[in-house]
Amino acid sequence: MTMRSPLPLCRLIPALAAASLGTALLGATDKPAYLDPTLSVEARIDDLLPRLTLDEKIALVHGNGLFRSGGVERLGIPYLWMDDGPQGVREDVGLDTWSAAGRTDDFATALPPGITIAATWDPAVARDCGAVVGEEARKRGKTVMLGPAMNIIRTPLCGRNYDYYGEDPWLSGRIAVGYVLGMQSEQTIACVKHFALNNQEKDRNRVDVEVDERALREIYLPAFEASVKEGGALAIMGAYNKFRGEYCSQNDYLLNTILKGEWGFKGAVISDWGATHNTREAVMKGLDLEMGTWGPHDKNYLATAFRDGVQAGTYPLSLLDDKARRNLRMIFESGAVDGRRPGSINTPAHLDVVLRAAEEGMVLLKNDGAFLPLDLAKVHSIAVIGENAVRTFAAGGNSAGVKAFREVTALDGILARAGKAATIAYSQGYHQPEMRRGHARDVAGVRMTEEIDASPDEAKALADRAVAAAAQADAVIFVAGLTHQAHGDDEGTDRLDLSLPGHQAELIARVVAANPRTAVVLIDGSPVAMDPWLPSVPSVLQSWYGGSEAGNALAAALFGDVTPSGKLPCSFPRSLADTPTGQEGARAYPGVDGVVHYDEGLLVGYRWYDAKKIDPLFPFGFGLSYTMFTYSNLRVSSGKPGVAEVECDVTNSGPRKGAEVVQLYVRDGHAAVPRPEKELKGFARVELAPGETRTVTIDLNPRSWAAHRGTSA
Ligand code: BGC
Repeated sequence: MTMRSPLPLCRLIPALAAASLGTALLGATDKPAYLDPTLSVEARIDDLLPRLTLDEKIALVHGNGLFRSGGVERLGIPYLWMDDGPQGVREDVGLDTWSAAGRTDDFATALPPGITIAATWDPAVARDCGAVVGEEARKRGKTVMLGPAMNIIRTPLCGRNYDYYGEDPWLSGRIAVGYVLGMQSEQTIACVKHFALNNQEKDRNRVDVEVDERALREIYLPAFEASVKEGGALAIMGAYNKFRGEYCSQNDYLLNTILKGEWGFKGAVISDWGATHNTREAVMKGLDLEMGTWGPHDKNYLATAFRDGVQAGTYPLSLLDDKARRNLRMIFESGAVDGRRPGSINTPAHLDVVLRAAEEGMVLLKNDGAFLPLDLAKVHSIAVIGENAVRTFAAGGNSAGVKAFREVTALDGILARAGKAATIAYSQGYHQPEMRRGHARDVAGVRMTEEIDASPDEAKALADRAVAAAAQADAVIFVAGLTHQAHGDDEGTDRLDLSLPGHQAELIARVVAANPRTAVVLIDGSPVAMDPWLPSVPSVLQSWYGGSEAGNALAAALFGDVTPSGKLPCSFPRSLADTPTGQEGARAYPGVDGVVHYDEGLLVGYRWYDAKKIDPLFPFGFGLSYTMFTYSNLRVSSGKPGVAEVECDVTNSGPRKGAEVVQLYVRDGHAAVPRPEKELKGFARVELAPGETRTVTIDLNPRSWAAHRGTSA
């Protein structure tokens, strides 16, 4: 679908005159100021707004298609076309239906999801990813991309964890800012989401979040704040859930007080799809663009009812003007009025970015005896086991799904890299049961979900064949993990527990018993349980989902073309009971009587494990390498009061080229209020050749030490 181009001036000028909107009549050669690209966007909007009729302004603040709004044809203002994000430009649907449009030109490059990008700890890679999506959006005629997504991982069960940047506000913020800057540098508006506190998918449409002010400000909001203030994001999406009793898409405190008031946000608040509930609340409490409300568009909350209210004097015109202005900013800033640069899609350069992001995101969790990388001079036969080795993932997960132009599976990547040097045998081994969305129910206190599973005989036959294949190979690559099916890494549902579905755990244990030379690769987007097999496998590589180049990135890591350098963006717990959301009762998760209480306050992720002295299975920030790094000469200097420059020298003291992520945590031992044991406040990724030393500098500023002391609304 392409954006409508501005009307030719010869048609436009009579139309303007006919509109008799009180503006000066234009001569045949005069160009109205709003069409003059040399003027500032604000000046152009100042000129345009008085030319708009009430109905034209109203048309700017609600959808007129599932992913379309606005458009003032008679004045040459194009529609605002939106699309999901953030893993790439989603396939087109029909104007007013979720059904695919069935086009052949709506393929896109599939980016790795948020969790993989966060695992790179590399804002530059995030920036490149954002730029790829931004450029492809231009080619596809989309003005606004609905992403990136940056809700904090509070529970390991949240179905959308894979879409997010982990459990830490600083890391999330740095990655988010990179992505937003990259996307908006490509004339595509980034709509950061889901503002705010959409930390679980279960009951997301109604759950009311009760969280204390410090946790709100110190944990859940900083990535959004950074996206707005540093990234300059021009759109933000109000979440489905409630916060302190008010829906987030019409939440006075979040939208008017904090976002627009304190942060000075100049862009538009867009509702999540179908997240608007009431005209008065939406008008008064900060919403600028209502999207996805089902039914005729003139029945939208911000359509006729809003117009009538303005006419009756119930709502001030200035409020409508402000909302219209915010929507127009997106249109002008994207270049849509003047004509955007041509875009491109599925280019080799885009695939290079995807490959680098997927490679950098690989986290090596275990590597006893330097089992990885596999040396093809010594390994002549490899058994690749697991359904996830032959699955593609880009299309799944609901709104983040992409119709990928290309997606390399794990098996294809391994075959391409090692197929000539070694014999590769593939065995499926397990089948992940399809969990039917919405069928979870409690039976005698036990949560059950209807599974569409292989019969026990089929499952046993699959497993037996895999064990036999493993026994005969020099090395085994077991590709395990989750999928984007319901109750997996999926929008709209949460996982039911931490286990690997479909008897994978038992099978890994059997395979390792048959051949201890087994590396487990995890393709998933959330922490999973690793018992009983973890102690007996030499290597575990957390590969995550990798987008279009996933299999090639995986093979590069397995065979040592790249050294894994990713670090966990979220803690991996040993059990649910170890997590703040796995406590007795449902109060902390998923909520009781429609309210979820964030009783742990600031103690989210590693802050919780530190405070409770619980050892996670793998901690936040963890990740091994094929090489080694030595730190020396730590020094702290302060120029201005409260500002510190922290430096250290990092040497690659191992045998291979590799990258290290230096992480800086602070602790305020003298605070008047309780503070976490440690808080990430800076990091730097540094690439080093063997023997090379570089100095890493990380700045801390007053905000690095700040605790929120304000009071709540
Ligand atoms: C999701 C959003 C998405 C929107 C439009 C919602 O269900 O929560 O992330 O952008 O749909 O597809």
